[in-house]
Amino acid sequence: MTKRTRWVIGNWKMNGTFATNAALLHAVSAGESGGASIAVCVPFPYLAQTQAALSGKAVGYGAQDVSQHSSGAYTGQVSAAMLQDFGATLALVGHSERRQYNRETDEEVAAKASALVAAGMTAVICVGETLAEREAGNAEKVVSRQLAACAGVISGAPAGKIVVAYEPVWAIGTGKTATAAEAQAMHAFIRGDMRRFGARSDAISILYGGSVKAGNAAELFAQSDIDGGLIGGAALIASDFLAIVAAAS
Ligand code: PGA
Repeated sequence: MTKRTRWVIGNWKMNGTFATNAALLHAVSAGESGGASIAVCVPFPYLAQTQAALSGKAVGYGAQDVSQHSSGAYTGQVSAAMLQDFGATLALVGHSERRQYNRETDEEVAAKASALVAAGMTAVICVGETLAEREAGNAEKVVSRQLAACAGVISGAPAGKIVVAYEPVWAIGTGKTATAAEAQAMHAFIRGDMRRFGARSDAISILYGGSVKAGNAAELFAQSDIDGGLIGGAALIASDFLAIVAAAS
């Protein structure tokens, strides 16, 4: 079996202050990574603070979104090159909150992933179905559509520059986690689906996200196609985040 990078990525969302970030970054960077790749995705204004806190440390960092454009008249947007100016090595694209609140389309998500890969950064492509889509029996169809839009970048990029995060929308911030078996089934589906469009699927890390906690991380991460987690709420508490990191190691 191909050895894939195990990742634990914190998604801080729109949380934090200078003071709380300082404490969190200090605690997270002082923890044991135990062989997993650890990163935090912080709000744009705190990239400089994060860079200062994490430079020379084993914890990577990045953003929660990126512009598909490289520069120009795009008020409010932030380019991959700007992220790199702050030492960021990765960004999330297509998080369900951006698909929902910012009306991001599959095509925009793909263009954003391409912008990151073109800059030499890692794109963490988020996919996942809503509860209504799952209950209608369409979970795989929706995830497959989201992946297919990114087929070009997923199959064209070096495997290490693409991470897929499966985040069922109904499990995000709700305390409801997919069971380990449900998550594994979808991860195996995703791996097969990416192989279908020519990706080196066995080498691409697929993370689970949605109410991952210290108490359920080990069981989720023990599944053969789950290569770590994308962590929201529990990434804001250093001890919880580090316990999840330990479960991935
Ligand atoms: P959660 O968020 O862990 O708070 O459910 C995960 C995410 O949205 O990335």
